[in-house]
Amino acid sequence: MSTPRTPASSPRTTDPDWWRQAVVYQVYPRSFADTDADGLGDVAGITSRVPYLASLGVDAVWLSPFYPSPLADGGYDVADYRDVDPRLGTLDDVDAFIRTAHEHDIRVIVDVVPNHTSDQHEWFRAALAATPGSPERARYVFREGSGESGELPPSDWVSNFGGSAWTRVPDGQWYLHLFAPEQPDLDWTNSEVRADFEHTLRSWSDRGVDGFRVDVAHGLAKDLSTPYRPSNEQALPLDGSDPLYDRDEVHEIFATWRAVLDEYDPPRAAVAEAWAPAPRRVLYARPTELGQAFNFDLLESPFDARSFREIIERNLSASEQSGASSTWVLSNHDVVRHATRYGLPEGTDTDAWLLTDGTDPVLDRERGVRRARAATMLVLALPGSSYVYQGEELGLHEAPAIPHALLQDPKWIRTGHTVKGRDGCRVPIPWTRTGPSFGFGDVAPHLPQPDDFGASSVEAEEDDPTSTLSMYREATAARRRLQRGEELTWTEAGDDVVAFARHDGWRSVTNFGTTPVAMPEGDVVLASGPLDAGDGLLPGETTVWLG
Ligand code: GLC
Repeated sequence: MSTPRTPASSPRTTDPDWWRQAVVYQVYPRSFADTDADGLGDVAGITSRVPYLASLGVDAVWLSPFYPSPLADGGYDVADYRDVDPRLGTLDDVDAFIRTAHEHDIRVIVDVVPNHTSDQHEWFRAALAATPGSPERARYVFREGSGESGELPPSDWVSNFGGSAWTRVPDGQWYLHLFAPEQPDLDWTNSEVRADFEHTLRSWSDRGVDGFRVDVAHGLAKDLSTPYRPSNEQALPLDGSDPLYDRDEVHEIFATWRAVLDEYDPPRAAVAEAWAPAPRRVLYARPTELGQAFNFDLLESPFDARSFREIIERNLSASEQSGASSTWVLSNHDVVRHATRYGLPEGTDTDAWLLTDGTDPVLDRERGVRRARAATMLVLALPGSSYVYQGEELGLHEAPAIPHALLQDPKWIRTGHTVKGRDGCRVPIPWTRTGPSFGFGDVAPHLPQPDDFGASSVEAEEDDPTSTLSMYREATAARRRLQRGEELTWTEAGDDVVAFARHDGWRSVTNFGTTPVAMPEGDVVLASGPLDAGDGLLPGETTVWLG
């Protein structure tokens, strides 16, 4: 039972469409700020940094899971959806965070993980204790095995983290897990499962949460009829015929969720994590469903003008058709940080690079940050919402050399130590130049930080007008001042250039090449790097906003 609490707070401004063109800052709670000296970030730490978040000019904060979890997958293995991991705090701490964020006019988005629970969730424990065919097992996907005596998995489906997607339990049945074995998949045809998630949505909405990020939204509906059809997530068919992902039936679930989210005033926002091609991804974002879906196309693109422009055009037009607003993502807790991706030779296999502890090929750190800054300003000038991952505002690089014994990502173990995984972008962010964890806390952090992290700390960048942090602050402030409407008009300016106008003369021009190009007329509002190529010239790998 939760303790009695004060009534939920609201942000100071009341625009129900706040999410359509928001800057949303993603916090990975265990790596943000540690106030109780256990090496793990906590909710009180996030609250203590709300003034910093406000200084970034962000509209909302998305918290990755802070729920009780055995941490088999960084908290995406949830043992109780309506509580707080005691190592991170209490429900009162979360209430205090929401209140403080709202006082600073920052909205709060929380993660909801509906595809699977933790194997420590009370439902899964009950399922294991119960017999085949029981209602306890029916909340998950238990099946008989194949082979003569059921000794083989029911199908050849593979887990996203490597290995079979099925694990056998002592009585001989197998259960499905699209991720780690500690993350059993729920059966969304089960009415108890549905009712419980609606309860979770209401419970956080009642606490004042403004929106939800929906994990693996494209995975909830599955075709479990036998014989099982093969699935190949890499090439999702466009007709919803994959047995595991992006099936048409999934939309009915989110229509139900929309009805719950619309019980609130203002309606709660939601964004789907749905790894599907743009024309199908936007279905999750329809006004009758979640409203937005992450667009990961830029996150998967090289730093290349043609590719950026093509992705932007495709996504703006797909969004327009669905009535959603587009989203833009360059980094998150699942991928190598974009400052690092852009500083490696094009086509580098980042998994292989991580296995060399980041030594081969050599990372051009400055170039990576220069390009990251240019990409960030381009994205912040686009209509739609921009999702910023913690540390991105510091131009932070990936931490590629975490000792093997300290790696936490299940991918490392499940791939037989051939893929290191995602820990390098989840290292606690540096707040100060020095100290045992660069200001993250008073003791060594749960993932070790590289020695050079202090140079990219908030303290080091705070008073430097040329720092990436200063650029972010100026960019979000200018965006707030300038942004109206959701229109964009392209300007032709050469093969290496992406240039467009928003409205009232606000223009963004990015030179993706290395040779300076002619800069259009206009007053410079902000540039991502020094404009030192000569009069009227835009240097390479630089974005300028003109007003
Ligand atoms: C999502 C999360 C990722 C997690 C996975 C399983 O892709 O972003 O971190 O491992 O879902 O929940």
